[in-house]
Amino acid sequence: MRQAPASIAGDLALLSGFGATQDGIDRRLFGTADYAARSQFVAWARADGRYVTQDRAGNVFAMRAGRNAASPILTGSHLDTVPTGGPYDGAYGAVAALWALRALDADGIETECPLEAVAWAGEEGSRFPLGCLGSSVFAGLNDLAAVEALRDDDGLTFAAARDGETGLLRDVPLRVETRAPSAYVELHIEQGPVLERRGVRLGNVTAIAGQRRFVVEVTGESGHAGTVPMSLRHDALGATAEIILALEAEARSCSEAVLTVGRLVVEPNQTNVIPARVTFRVDARSIDEAQLSRLAEAVVAQAELAGARRGIRARVEAIERRAAVAMDGRLRAALAVSFGTLGVAALDLPSGAGHDAMCVATISPAAMIFVPSAGGRSHVASEYTSPEDLDLGVAALARALIEIDRRTAKEH
Ligand code: HGY
Ligand code: MN
Ligand code: MN
Repeated sequence: MRQAPASIAGDLALLSGFGATQDGIDRRLFGTADYAARSQFVAWARADGRYVTQDRAGNVFAMRAGRNAASPILTGSHLDTVPTGGPYDGAYGAVAALWALRALDADGIETECPLEAVAWAGEEGSRFPLGCLGSSVFAGLNDLAAVEALRDDDGLTFAAARDGETGLLRDVPLRVETRAPSAYVELHIEQGPVLERRGVRLGNVTAIAGQRRFVVEVTGESGHAGTVPMSLRHDALGATAEIILALEAEARSCSEAVLTVGRLVVEPNQTNVIPARVTFRVDARSIDEAQLSRLAEAVVAQAELAGARRGIRARVEAIERRAAVAMDGRLRAALAVSFGTLGVAALDLPSGAGHDAMCVATISPAAMIFVPSAGGRSHVASEYTSPEDLDLGVAALARALIEIDRRTAKEH
């Protein structure tokens, strides 16, 4: 019998044990911890009587039957984390999907549409260089064949990891459903400070910021740190520093954009050797496509300027491009009604963070519900959302699924 803790906070605490390190949670796609988390998701779902399947991208689905055989209303999020992740980013929405279905069971509610909880694979892009990996394959935005050839930092392909010991789950059948969902709702922590600062406990997401990601490779000239005069240097790291500071200034001058260089590799990375080559990644985000384009142009322009100024070569490669995505107006109206039945105020707000909903929105109406993040912190071990807000999010999601099902049934 399921001896699970009697709360979603308890379930998330249990799940956070998979991949726990002293720097946070490290649960990367098809790693041991990710396999354990997906297995736990399946165990919980099966304990509730759900029909569980998986697809060849590693996404896991748990179906609750409806009165009719329409394409399911889907709800969930991702189970993988960044290497220093917190307990709630992604995992909350995946586990809350199971809790919301359970709430409908407890109230004896039968829906017209089937409801399906989903745990998306590899949303963070922490192992393979592609964000929203599982949901983008599900939505047909990326070919599985192309994804299968992606390699992690050790050179292992996605296909080899998926077909290995901690890849696809044993004893879980492959999914045969190929129709687009009737609708998709993702419950997620805000990962920012807005709800907490405004004292509002629920967010009705208006849109998800677009993203442009680049790899920049700066090649200079290595040499002895003690003997090469400053005037003769072609220091790859010095040039990189100039490029990054110029891009930061550009982003600061945009009203609705952010830009981050969070990953940088120096070669040969020795104290007494002038850096020969630096490879770094740029992550630019904005709700406004024009500002995104402006930042994308700045990446190329600043690389060229540094090249001319310092006699280095800078190669810019665009590796990801996701347009800003508006959430579906009718679903957002259904969320607003659902929040109203709970008597809880909600705030309309955009999401600076990317989510699987960006991909699913390309094949079906999609909406997102936020709950507050303490201090707006996320992608850090100290990520926190109170048990009361976690529970409120589940109640809001359950109500939203009922309301969306009612409206979907009326339209068919
Ligand atoms: O990067 C993001 O916005 C998401 O957490 N993957
Ligand atoms: Mn994240
Ligand atoms: Mn997330």
